[in-house]
Amino acid sequence: MVEDCEKQSKGQSNSRCRSLRLYVIFTVFLVLVLCYYIIPNEMSASWAIAVGLLLPEKFATQTINASLNTVSVVTSAERWKPPEPYYVAYPYKYNLLLNEPEKCQREKPFLILMVPVSPSNTAARDAIRSTWGSERLVGDKTVSVLFLLGLPTSENRDTLQQNLLQESEKNHDLIQNDFWDSYYNLTIKTMVMLEWLSVYCQNASYAMKIDSDMFLNVKKLVEMLQSAPKQNYMTGLVARHAMVLRDPSSKWYLPKTVYKPPLYPPYALGLGYVFSLDLPEKLIKAAQRVKPVYIEDVFLGMCMTHLGIGVTDPPDGSLFNVFPVTYNRCRYSKLIATTTHSMNDQVEFWKDLQRPGPYC
Ligand SMILES: *[C@@H]1O[C@H](CO)[C@@H](O)[C@H](O)[C@H]1NC(C)=O
Ligand SMILES: *[C@@H]1O[C@H](CO)[C@@H](O)[C@H](O)[C@H]1NC(C)=O
Ligand SMILES: *[C@@H]1O[C@H](CO)[C@@H](O)[C@H](O)[C@H]1NC(C)=O
Repeated sequence: MVEDCEKQSKGQSNSRCRSLRLYVIFTVFLVLVLCYYIIPNEMSASWAIAVGLLLPEKFATQTINASLNTVSVVTSAERWKPPEPYYVAYPYKYNLLLNEPEKCQREKPFLILMVPVSPSNTAARDAIRSTWGSERLVGDKTVSVLFLLGLPTSENRDTLQQNLLQESEKNHDLIQNDFWDSYYNLTIKTMVMLEWLSVYCQNASYAMKIDSDMFLNVKKLVEMLQSAPKQNYMTGLVARHAMVLRDPSSKWYLPKTVYKPPLYPPYALGLGYVFSLDLPEKLIKAAQRVKPVYIEDVFLGMCMTHLGIGVTDPPDGSLFNVFPVTYNRCRYSKLIATTTHSMNDQVEFWKDLQRPGPYC
């Protein structure tokens, strides 16, 4: 119809065509407005992703893989060099100071929850131990929980380390490595987590890396995993075609010298991602080649791209949430993970969800 109008309009336009054109323009406008409001709010963190939807996936993946900063294989026996800015000191052999080498043999988990947390944050660990970290059995599936720590950086680090030792003896759930625990070292924490899993927990089916300030619905997570792929599987809140932040004052700044493409590879947001236990070994291998940037989730995305393994979208877009979801028993019974405004919310929401009675 529009074409008919184009032809006609070469002669003289009529009002029917004009109104048709107005209609088309209005529809396009409506779709754009819908994209603007729905996509960023419902599906993911960033509006950039919506823009990126216009790019074909294959093209983006190939371009990104071609421009990853790779290095020839280095072994962890090689001398450690201080990293350039925006890269972290990895691969490097970090030593375990606190370990639970028999945890997985003993508990035989289907799923193991790995929670990075700063050494001084005992409160967050206790909150988790008393809430979602206490859910050790879902149906016939065992769930284990471990906390990941680096070295305390604060002044009173000796006292802190003493306390950690006691906490570890009491709860048997701390894994500590000898790198400084800091925001810029999170990629190291993630990599030593993968190393730990590949050595001590190969027989588990899935692992989830989940931040300590998250609300987690363990039942819903196990339910999703019962019908999930068993290999090459990573899911969570997946960002595709997210824009690289080039503003030096941004928390996630990456200069072009470190990563040239304007878009990140597809990756699962660090607040909580789930993966099958065949992946740690593969990702560790990839990390010997792809230079580790300090943004841990983006770095895993780079490794996945290098391996040619896609990140899987969750079965439902509302399962993982980057913005705190307003509490409502029905809503929370159907989601897997969400950020919350406070540790108190995290605890109260979990308690309310355990109360007997129908959810919805
Ligand atoms: C994994 O399972 C195999 C076979 O069941 C067993 O021989 C091995 O010791 C297990 N490994 C761990 C770390 O539990
Ligand atoms: C990261 O850890 C390494 C090893 O402990 C340390 O040399 C480096 O200074 C740390 N980086 C930051 C930014 O804390
Ligand atoms: C990415 O590039 C590396 C070499 O740079 C290659 O070994 C790997 O197979 C590539 N992956 C994909 C998915 O093209």
